[in-house]
Amino acid sequence: MNYVEALNVTKKYNQEQLLKYYDRLSEIEKVELLRQIANIDWSLLAILKKEKREHQRGVLEPLDAIETQEIQQKKDIFYQTGMKAIQEGKVAAVLLAGGQGTRLGFDKPKGMLNVGETKELFLFEQLINNVTEVAKAADTWIPFYIMTSEKNQTDTINFFEENHYFGYPKEYIKFFMQEMAPSVDYNGKILLEGYGRISLSPNGNGGWFSSMKKSGVLEDAKHRGVIWFNIFSVDNVLQKIADPLFIGATIENGNVSGAKVVKKVEPEERVGVLCKEDGKPAIVEYYEMTNEMLTAKKENGDLQYSFGVTLNYLFHLDQLEDILNDEMPTHVVEKKIPYLNEQGNLIKPDQPNGYKFEQLVLDMIHMLDNCLPYEVIRKEEFAPIKNRTGVDSLESARLLMKENGIPL
Ligand code: UTP
Repeated sequence: MNYVEALNVTKKYNQEQLLKYYDRLSEIEKVELLRQIANIDWSLLAILKKEKREHQRGVLEPLDAIETQEIQQKKDIFYQTGMKAIQEGKVAAVLLAGGQGTRLGFDKPKGMLNVGETKELFLFEQLINNVTEVAKAADTWIPFYIMTSEKNQTDTINFFEENHYFGYPKEYIKFFMQEMAPSVDYNGKILLEGYGRISLSPNGNGGWFSSMKKSGVLEDAKHRGVIWFNIFSVDNVLQKIADPLFIGATIENGNVSGAKVVKKVEPEERVGVLCKEDGKPAIVEYYEMTNEMLTAKKENGDLQYSFGVTLNYLFHLDQLEDILNDEMPTHVVEKKIPYLNEQGNLIKPDQPNGYKFEQLVLDMIHMLDNCLPYEVIRKEEFAPIKNRTGVDSLESARLLMKENGIPL
């Protein structure tokens, strides 16, 4: 794209501010800015205009989970089936680490956070320790894919290199990058974060499979014979990865996907609940539930909508390929976005000041034929680090890690 083309397209979409500092840029910076403008997906701006963005939900119904008691009863068969799949090389782990972790306020990739107290123990390291445990029991390494973004790819790879992949064989770890989307202010104007740099942010965790495909790492997985993908977030330090019981339960139950879920602590807990929508699996957010749904009980007194998702899913390759070309919804999310103000100074706001565009993995669930909600014990497997202190924080995760005997 040349300057005239960029001028025309920015005029067309009312985004001339993107070229405000063009004359002050070096030749290299000019080329880079034009490249960024050429890559903008302008259709995102139309999403902002849609009146009342929350979509109408279909018919919601509860979806029964396989609960811990039943898992205990069937654990031998689940373990055997899950282990067999792992040993046959059919299972891969996919770490979603492309997010920016803005709530935590840590300016490096979130996985570089040190959760140790008397020694160093990094989030990435703990996740590798978790998968290594299974790999040792299976006596085979599990392919481990890491999704990063343009913003944190170099730091992430360097960190793994410096730390010798935390003892995991390098040839089993592969990185791939997700796509970026522009951030806008409340008036829909795309923000600049430098004279020649558009404010771009990772486009949500929902595009992980298409990014795996675009980047070529999917071919690597297929070549190795992988058919099950266990995807998980970077910040739940306690989660089991490539958990044979979870894999075995999903296979034995004849499901094409599974989701690790935890029992809600109270009806109003702010978690997404796995249920059915128009007969298909779906995740309903706490604020989308009516009072009646929040408190509806089963005959045994348990809540009908009682299991919250933990961002640890298992997907079958065939279904992922089937849904690859289906359109996923794009969410408009309010965030704190660093930007250049009118005077050209970089401002790092401490309150949300605009929107990012994200696709979410939870929307993928609704595109699948079925999904098994698989209960895990919260205290043993759910310690997400979203904030510095308080709920779901470094503080709360450290306490839980110690309770689970992990030396810090
Ligand atoms: P979060 O929803 O916690 O988002 O991500 P975030 O961007 O990391 O953090 P906040 O909201 O700004 O504080 C859940 C998981 O999805 C990954 C994150 O890295 C985390 O593992 N993720 C999120 C991506 O891989 N890409 C994204 O674009 C967003």
